Amino acid sequence: MKHISEIRTRIRDLHLTDEVELVTQLIKIANLSKKDRIEIVENAAFLVEKIRSDKNPGLMEVFLAEYGLSNSEGIALMCLAEALLRVPDAYTMDELIEDKLTDKKWSQHIGNSSSSLVNASTWALILTGKVLDETKESKIHSAMHRLIKRVGEPVIRQAVKAAMKEMGNQFVLGETIEKAVKRGQKYQKSDYTYSYDMLGEAAITDNDAIKFTKAYADTISYLAKHSKDSDVRNNPGISIKLSALFPRYELIHKSAVLETMGKRLSNLILMARNANMGLNIDAEEADRLDLSLDVIEQALSDPRLKGWDGFGVVVQAYGKRAIAVIDWLHALSEKLDRKIMIRLVKGAYWDTEIKRTQTDAFDNYPVFTKKCATDISYLACARRLLDFSDRIYPQFATHNAHSIHAVLRMSKPNQNFEFQRLHGMGGALYDHTIALSKIRCRIYAPVGIHDDLLAYLVRRLLENGANSSFVNKILDKNVPSEEVVFDPIIDWNIISKKNKWLTKPADLYQPERKNSLGFDITSVNELERINLARNDFAQKKWVVSSHLASGTATGVFQTIINPADINDTVGTVINASENDVICAIENAMPWIIPHDQRAEILNKVAD
Ligand code: FAD
Ligand code: 2OP
Repeated sequence: MKHISEIRTRIRDLHLTDEVELVTQLIKIANLSKKDRIEIVENAAFLVEKIRSDKNPGLMEVFLAEYGLSNSEGIALMCLAEALLRVPDAYTMDELIEDKLTDKKWSQHIGNSSSSLVNASTWALILTGKVLDETKESKIHSAMHRLIKRVGEPVIRQAVKAAMKEMGNQFVLGETIEKAVKRGQKYQKSDYTYSYDMLGEAAITDNDAIKFTKAYADTISYLAKHSKDSDVRNNPGISIKLSALFPRYELIHKSAVLETMGKRLSNLILMARNANMGLNIDAEEADRLDLSLDVIEQALSDPRLKGWDGFGVVVQAYGKRAIAVIDWLHALSEKLDRKIMIRLVKGAYWDTEIKRTQTDAFDNYPVFTKKCATDISYLACARRLLDFSDRIYPQFATHNAHSIHAVLRMSKPNQNFEFQRLHGMGGALYDHTIALSKIRCRIYAPVGIHDDLLAYLVRRLLENGANSSFVNKILDKNVPSEEVVFDPIIDWNIISKKNKWLTKPADLYQPERKNSLGFDITSVNELERINLARNDFAQKKWVVSSHLASGTATGVFQTIINPADINDTVGTVINASENDVICAIENAMPWIIPHDQRAEILNKVAD
């Protein structure tokens, strides 16, 4: 068994590691025989067929079968949903609706869906699109349309907003915890338990953070009344986003994070502990991961938590560090003599991670870039969690029939674990799974008002709208069920040989130019490297003045103090005088070298 600090180093080393090498190791860890894999696919395909023949397969699935991200209408809707809930004024809202809804081929979707709600939406979109689109009509029609549009704009705006809110309703269990618990009682009777999530994340100000922290505390107090079982697994739980607790949740503010966020979190944890309910720390963006482990270690080390098995952590399988994070959490719970819960998810921030890494031009991506690689990582992590059940209660959160059946295949009879799904998704999938396996399922249920829904809603739309997503394909009868649940290891063997990879961030603009290099100040390894390079200059005193055609400028030296640390004198400078500037202008000469040589010099300077 490796020492916990060695595992931490391994986590850091895996951050931007090579995808092919890592997936090769993960396939070995998943340790599934050919027979296992064939049977998983058969069982999962059977489940897909069952859901396809259901009368009520779920609104989200039906909606996505018609409008995914694979057609321009679907993309328009996703963009609209993403933007509309945060547009502040009516004018921008109308412009946005017009931009997104006109000029799309809505009529192709008429009557396609098995859901009357989705079909009705299509009609509404056609009407909206026709009323708003004035480009293709004759002049007189165009004048008429302008009139209708003027009269109709507020109506259209309200209708589209209402439709988007309806989509939000799909994902939120209730505006208040009282309403949510009441609405959830129906499901609780049929073998489901809940983990409530208070909407609101990424606090910008400390007032926001205090408000979000209070919302969590009030919810725990309320849920305490419903947590009557001596077994924490049978009680409702709460899911917490650390980004909601403190506005500067960043590695460079580590001590403030541990101090202030640490206190807020610790209070919430003790409340949950006293109520004997589960408290799960959600996983957020990859750049928070290292810091979140420090927060988790500090929180779990509290001796008052001994004997409580309700502390939970979420691990994202799409992250290259996932398997090592599980090893570390297991080692930590051994060291502290605790039992913890780990919720395994694939990860909801994929698009953000890719975009951020490209913007910053890091060496590689922190997440896998092939969907089947994430699926394989999920299998390997699931295997690890099931092997670690002495300390860990695994919670498998997925809406993918293949992942569910892989877990069922890997687990031993009567093994202690649960499945989890999001409210508004995977209903039919888990009704069948519970009936078949008798494994319990917990529903993650967002609670809150629509104003706080946006970030959550966008993640749902993006992850489910992608045509590689299971939910997106499940009801598409053009995709055979075996293909919907295709074995990710076979998929990987095919894909990885094709050598078609997502362009590395540094090469994004090639052959035209290199991407500008970024520094990953969220990586402990990178910070160490930067600090090492800075060390040579720590004591250096800079002496700076202008270089002129007539020689170095002279004048009075001014002392420069580091504004972040007034005890640190950076050096001295002679600022350019008016005469220095005149001298420079008088001596300036046109740059007469050829343009390609000039470009070369400029590129060198930029590098
Ligand atoms: P699938 O369709 O099998 O997988 C979709 C996922 O594959 C995507 O979400 C992405 O992770 C991955 N993916 C897609 N394209 C690619 C690609 N090109 N390369 C690599 N990977 C790709 N998510 C969090 O981030 N943090 C949480 O705390 C969290 N809590 C959750 C709690 C519950 C109870 C549930 C059910 C989900 C939670 N999620 C969380 C969301 C979860 O990450 C997504 O729902 C999940 O990724 C969808 O996976 P799936 O197995 O259902 O679907
Ligand atoms: C999210 O907020 C469910 O935690 C997950 O997207």
